[in-house]
Amino acid sequence: MLLPLAMSNNFSKIPQHIAIIMDGNGRWAEARGLPRLEGHKAGTENLRQIIQGCVDAGVKYLTIYAFSTENWGRPREEVEGLISILELFLDRELDELCAEGVKICHLGRLEAMPLKVRRKVEHSMEITCSNSRLILSVAWNYGGRDEIVYAIQKMIRENVQPQDVTEELVGQYLFTKDMPDPDLIIRTSGEMRISNFLIWQAAYAEWYITPTFWPDFNKEELFKAIASYGQRDRRFGKISGLNNED
Ligand code: FPP
Repeated sequence: MLLPLAMSNNFSKIPQHIAIIMDGNGRWAEARGLPRLEGHKAGTENLRQIIQGCVDAGVKYLTIYAFSTENWGRPREEVEGLISILELFLDRELDELCAEGVKICHLGRLEAMPLKVRRKVEHSMEITCSNSRLILSVAWNYGGRDEIVYAIQKMIRENVQPQDVTEELVGQYLFTKDMPDPDLIIRTSGEMRISNFLIWQAAYAEWYITPTFWPDFNKEELFKAIASYGQRDRRFGKISGLNNED
């Protein structure tokens, strides 16, 4: 059962930026005797309610890990299936997302995508670029280490001097430029690892790990994660009560 919208007003603290590692699609499918791709498809179906849940709760940034730089090593059929799923998602959801005020961004290297899909991603970014209700970033062909390598290469190309390299400057060379760091990272399916996701930006993120497989992660589960975040005492390496940012 989905929680009523009013529930979203009762959170003691709302994370400005939620990032999600959508894990467990394969196991969800295997448990039902289905091919793995069916798990990925089911894991796309629930995205709409998670996006809606973030809008209802007042979350401003949602980042989803859809395809890592390492996922190219999966069987060809699965890789091609994941590319088609992204394409279908954009075909089906773009108008509604745009009407809802969602801005679509991409994190990662677009150039490795088939041209047709790349154009669709670019188009979806263009037509939603002035929206601001929710910034939905899709990490696709994304790797945290790759992002840092890319940033260093760009800094060297632009002749940045060593004394000018600060944490703020590095942040401006990352794919997440101008985005706040994630406050809350959710990982489904019980795995407790970072898997090359936002490794720079996650420095002080709060983690929420649930055994639920991603296709079963619904709005109610999202609200549980947000409620859990509200109980956290974020100290950012300092001690309680010293004007820590939250
Ligand atoms: C991890 O589960 C999931 C992925 C590698 C793909 C996630 C992609 C989607 C949910 C598609 C939707 C995305 C968009 C933007 C339309 P896994 O396959 O590693 O699961 P397992 O650990 O159980 O095998």
